[in-house]
Amino acid sequence: MANRRDLPVAFRWGASTAAYQVEGAVDEDGRGPSIWDVFTARPGAVRDSRTGEIACDHYHRHTEDVALMRDLGLDGYRFSIAWPRIQPTGAGSANPAGLGFYDRLVDDLLAVGISPLPTLFHWDLPQALEEGGGWLARDTAYRFAEYTEIVADRLGDRVPAWITLNEPFVHMVYGYALGIHAPGRTLMLDALPVAHHQLLGHALAAEVLHERGHAVVIANNLSPVWPASDAAADMAAAAAYDVLHNRLFTDPLLLGRYPDLSAYGVSPDLGGCVRPGDLELIAASGLDGLGVNYYNPTRIAAPTDPGGLPFTEAEITGVPRTAFGWPVVPDGLRELLVGLRDRYGDALPPITITENGCSVADRPAPDGTIPDQPRIDYLAGHLDALAAAIAEGVDVRGYFTWSLLDNFEWAEGFSQRFGLVHVDFATQLRTPKASYAWYRDLIAAHRAHRTG
Ligand code: BGC
Repeated sequence: MANRRDLPVAFRWGASTAAYQVEGAVDEDGRGPSIWDVFTARPGAVRDSRTGEIACDHYHRHTEDVALMRDLGLDGYRFSIAWPRIQPTGAGSANPAGLGFYDRLVDDLLAVGISPLPTLFHWDLPQALEEGGGWLARDTAYRFAEYTEIVADRLGDRVPAWITLNEPFVHMVYGYALGIHAPGRTLMLDALPVAHHQLLGHALAAEVLHERGHAVVIANNLSPVWPASDAAADMAAAAAYDVLHNRLFTDPLLLGRYPDLSAYGVSPDLGGCVRPGDLELIAASGLDGLGVNYYNPTRIAAPTDPGGLPFTEAEITGVPRTAFGWPVVPDGLRELLVGLRDRYGDALPPITITENGCSVADRPAPDGTIPDQPRIDYLAGHLDALAAAIAEGVDVRGYFTWSLLDNFEWAEGFSQRFGLVHVDFATQLRTPKASYAWYRDLIAAHRAHRTG
């Protein structure tokens, strides 16, 4: 049986964060408001009415955080760039102070041998663009390309690879269909143009990046879908869910077409928003890598509401759960990766795991240490599953755990801790957890092995 000790020599180790979840400093140095600043002010939107106003104060403490990454031995750091710091209204000229922050961060990372892997959009759209329709508006895709150009021109001499979008599926469903995340719209299937416009934005940004010789990656949230039984109705529901979660954003990129959405009563041109030439442009964006964010599988049963969506989510039983209540199924990662290879064959680019991790209700022990054995078990299990997928022939180049730091967990506020490093949000004290030491030792052992 393959396990994490067998990972390939060139395998890269990393950790991920996102701007709104860690930076704070929302009113500083000319940053404009994002949809998350507005959404978090809405009564009842976020648990305990918390906001990302301060978060981990990473904007001011990034030097300390880079030192934590250096001591961890990371090869790469995945962070996101806050669009409203670069273009406060989402259009027009660049804000030098905003660019300056990422410029310094990139230099600090490179100085300690860590490759920066920026994500251009991790959900914090400039509020001014939301007022013009957000990702429901086609124009946002063009604005995204313009913003990409500004950032690539400034950082491109030191940053060779870029992630365009983070989890366009989750952003569409939580932000525009269900209203659980910013911008808090509840459009259900009328949110589908958000899928297309994000993909168009990705493709236009990819053009900008490729022109400059950069590598382009997208980070998709993917989940193996398990039918609740082998009854035909459950199988059909699972296939319908798979289309939405796993294929809507991957088929157009890798196969040049949208999957069949007829189970949703949606036409192949997504209700008219797909214009001639769009799919060609999206397919031509030529992904250099696919980022996979994996947390758990999804179990799906036949719909209970005949007029509603063509599936219902069913509980996965008999497995451990994270503090968030998410099922822990490490082999789901192997299943997902092998399934991607089988579905897309030669069209599948090399994969990097751009997020994987779990929330644990960890807290300081009386001796000041932070024991988080469930996280160690989670990471170990998933890395073994990853090694098994590689042994089955899937090309996976690296693993970025979510997350470096405990941070602002969107609608859950600060109630879910995902970090290798504990953050006391009252004092901003950082304390590496047991999982940090475990990950550090794993990376060191792998590095010793690869350097001979
Ligand atoms: C997102 C992260 C988030 C994590 C845990 C992913 O969906 O990209 O921003 O914190 O999952 O919920």
